[in-house]
Amino acid sequence: MARKGKVTVVGSGYYGSTTAQRLAEYDILETVVMTDIKDGWAEGLALDLNQSRPIERFETEVIGKTTGQNDEGYEVIEGSDVVVITAGLPRKPGMSRMDLLEVNAKIVRGVSENIARYAPDAVVINVSNPLDEMTTLVQLATGFPHQRVMGQAGMLDTARFTNSVAEKLGVPVSTVKTLTLGSHGDTMVPVPSACTVDGKPLSDVLDAEAIDQLVDRTRNGGAEVVALLKSGSAFYAPSAAAARMARAVIEDSGAVMPVCAWVDGEYGISGVYLGVEVEIGKEGVRRVVERDLTDTEKQGLKAAADAVKSKAADVANL
Ligand code: LAC
Repeated sequence: MARKGKVTVVGSGYYGSTTAQRLAEYDILETVVMTDIKDGWAEGLALDLNQSRPIERFETEVIGKTTGQNDEGYEVIEGSDVVVITAGLPRKPGMSRMDLLEVNAKIVRGVSENIARYAPDAVVINVSNPLDEMTTLVQLATGFPHQRVMGQAGMLDTARFTNSVAEKLGVPVSTVKTLTLGSHGDTMVPVPSACTVDGKPLSDVLDAEAIDQLVDRTRNGGAEVVALLKSGSAFYAPSAAAARMARAVIEDSGAVMPVCAWVDGEYGISGVYLGVEVEIGKEGVRRVVERDLTDTEKQGLKAAADAVKSKAADVANL
């Protein structure tokens, strides 16, 4: 099998390292690069992952590189088709994602400038929080066309919604379809009208109160994990989502996924990064896919857009 493509994961904490692992185990890429600021950490993880190849049977080569205070090491990302930014701090219990705005903005801006310098043609997938605002910042700091910058959130929030519905009904996750749009935060918009169980509308199998509870649980899905872990935040489901997005770019697959993308006219909303469904290809976002929403869902999406926009001006100055 011909393996091709290079994906770099910046930041090798739990989120970054599990993303790199998933990408390597797909066995479709020539190279996966992982970087970290902790001396030797990325090199050690890369060696460990490479040593797992004979057991897990994949040939993708994993390269680890420590990056320095003065941007040393970033040349390793040269030629990347996709760069996933996981650098930044996770939440602690009781924190909102927005509490990370200032500290993560500095980190994400620095990483973005290095991506623009060394991988000017890459598609960038940001996962750092607050997600929608940091994705906005990545586009500003790289100067890349909007379609080449996306954020990972909708896939994750949708997976959480699906899992909650499946658990509640005691059915296989594969029989449940759900969707979330909007921001990756308080103005997340779970979309019950797009949800089905075995092809039946969700409202046929659950009453309104039960659906409301599942919607709330979805909105708080990240915080629920943070509260249990007590240090750090979720990474298995988030990395699964980020790796699938990167794969869709590498394979130029045209897969439709909910992601944080630039919205310019769709749903009557313009000029903002927001969670919507998009078709993904080698150029990043091929197009935003609009669907029919109920009035409440439309209002939710508009509120999410306003909330992200109100922070966008701050972001430009961070
Ligand atoms: C979460 C973080 C990664 O939702 O935003 O778990």
